[in-house]
Amino acid sequence: MVGILDSGIGGVTVLREILKQGINAKFIYYSDSKHNPYGDKSEEEVYSIVKGVVDYLLNRGCDIIVLACNTASAMCVKRLRSEYPDTLFIAIEPAYKMVHDYNPKDKTLVMATEGTLNSEKFLALYHKYDNKNTILLPCKRLAELIEEGNDVKIDRYLEENLSKYKDIDNVVLGCTHYPLIKENIRKVLGNVKFFDGSVGVSKELVRQLQSRDIKFSSGKFSIVFIDSSDDVSKKNRFMELLSSGE
Ligand code: DGL
Repeated sequence: MVGILDSGIGGVTVLREILKQGINAKFIYYSDSKHNPYGDKSEEEVYSIVKGVVDYLLNRGCDIIVLACNTASAMCVKRLRSEYPDTLFIAIEPAYKMVHDYNPKDKTLVMATEGTLNSEKFLALYHKYDNKNTILLPCKRLAELIEEGNDVKIDRYLEENLSKYKDIDNVVLGCTHYPLIKENIRKVLGNVKFFDGSVGVSKELVRQLQSRDIKFSSGKFSIVFIDSSDDVSKKNRFMELLSSGE
């Protein structure tokens, strides 16, 4: 069974990509909206929260855990892998290497949480593929607004924080909540190219399943959704987003 976690419903953008890869498995999705945002918390605090979620998912029978959260991946995956050597952890990272591979010269904006942008893991990636034409933009509170689902507030936030970057070509969506607001971002920045880490993470999951000889396309798909804040509206929103594709 595959456990997927995020600090809310944003990880649905990762699960959608996983399903596009034809992975039919049993999934438990853990939306930790009670602790949203992770991005403003210290590494120690995020690790202790995420470890609690991981223990819960392992007790429910998961043997693979997808960290469908850039912040949790950046801050916790190294430590989780050493503390749980028998569990397979798949982590996401901002798709900055994709910019290097597909559109390296153009002006790039990396949108992510403060926690992700300040992490050792992201900084190593950034310095490795730096195109010298990149702006790193910590988007404080944006994941919370997306979680809340209020388009008026989201549009106001983007207008205030993105309008000075109208000459941008590439936008790295370095938080799993952000692919949900591509159209809102386009309203401010126009027809930019988006780079999203969920494609890479789902392909990595396929590779790992294949290397373990686990049959994944002939199985049955099922999903259990859990939200830590017991907000009943989250489940409906998550299921709608999951079936809406994009
Ligand atoms: N979805 C998380 C990420 O990818 C959300 C950020 C947060 O909780 O601050 O980074």
